[in-house]
Amino acid sequence: MNICHSIEEMRTAARAVRYGGLRLGFVPTMGALHEGHLSLVRAARTQCDAVAVSIFVNPTQFGPNEDFSRYPRTFEHDRELLEKEGVDLLFAPSAEEMYPKGAVTWVEVEELSQKLCGRSRPGHFRGVATVVSKLFHIVEPDLAFFGQKDAAQVAVIRRMVRDLNFPVEIVVCSIVREADGLAMSSRNAYLSPQERKSALALYRSLSAIQARFDQGERNPANLIQAGKQVLAEESLVRLDYLEVVDPDTLDPPEELRNATLVAVAAFVGKTRLIDNIVLPAAARTT
Ligand code: PAJ
Repeated sequence: MNICHSIEEMRTAARAVRYGGLRLGFVPTMGALHEGHLSLVRAARTQCDAVAVSIFVNPTQFGPNEDFSRYPRTFEHDRELLEKEGVDLLFAPSAEEMYPKGAVTWVEVEELSQKLCGRSRPGHFRGVATVVSKLFHIVEPDLAFFGQKDAAQVAVIRRMVRDLNFPVEIVVCSIVREADGLAMSSRNAYLSPQERKSALALYRSLSAIQARFDQGERNPANLIQAGKQVLAEESLVRLDYLEVVDPDTLDPPEELRNATLVAVAAFVGKTRLIDNIVLPAAARTT
């Protein structure tokens, strides 16, 4: 695996792959890798000839009171995992390399960036869109792989790619969960054993909504109510949002006609977790 720390090195290495006629897949991450990240790497492996991964804890997507400084950094372990997965290129730049003094240019995906996580994390999606467009310019991948786990991020990136004509295909991979249903996340490492148990309430609330939907419930407010009830039973859980929205616009639909995203974000102790499910379009009101 070729490890590049500078933009110049990475650009040259990625170009060499593509000029060799190989299809290059790219998986951007912030490290502290788990099976969720590795599922993206494996999808890239299957669909591309060569795979590039980036590890960069992007300061511009963290708010002033968020966990940037204590975000888990496990580079050596990550490197070993990626080596085992047969990754070809690893890009691991410093913050100074990515944001040299005087950097004042931002990518702002208006409106979408103010929804779901964007509402409670002002500036978050501006940081994400900016760093992902920089990474796309550096790596110039044919395909880029993102997790459904961050459903609002997927909507923002898709729109950015469309609006700014990035020559990249976005591939979205399903959520990888622990055996008991908790969505894998680098932030799960923050949870105490008691919080870890309470954190399951997010998945339980989504499962309750899925069950109500399967029984024929199509009223978004009733579905949300069913989910909120589950979350309210957990004293360590403080709800940020539980919303039923269109997966592309992130707006609430008037009726559940198309595939619909049910997204939840909640604090478990001090740790903010997110999860979601997609209700299918095919199942109609009984
Ligand atoms: P990070 O949180 O490290 O996630 C990197 C990628 O892994 C994202 O596309 C995310 O959706 C995916 N992922 C995380 N947990 C997952 C799970 N349980 N199942 C499936 N996929 C999962 O998302 C970011 O980093 C950053 O915002 C980034 C895009 C790298 C820009 O800085």
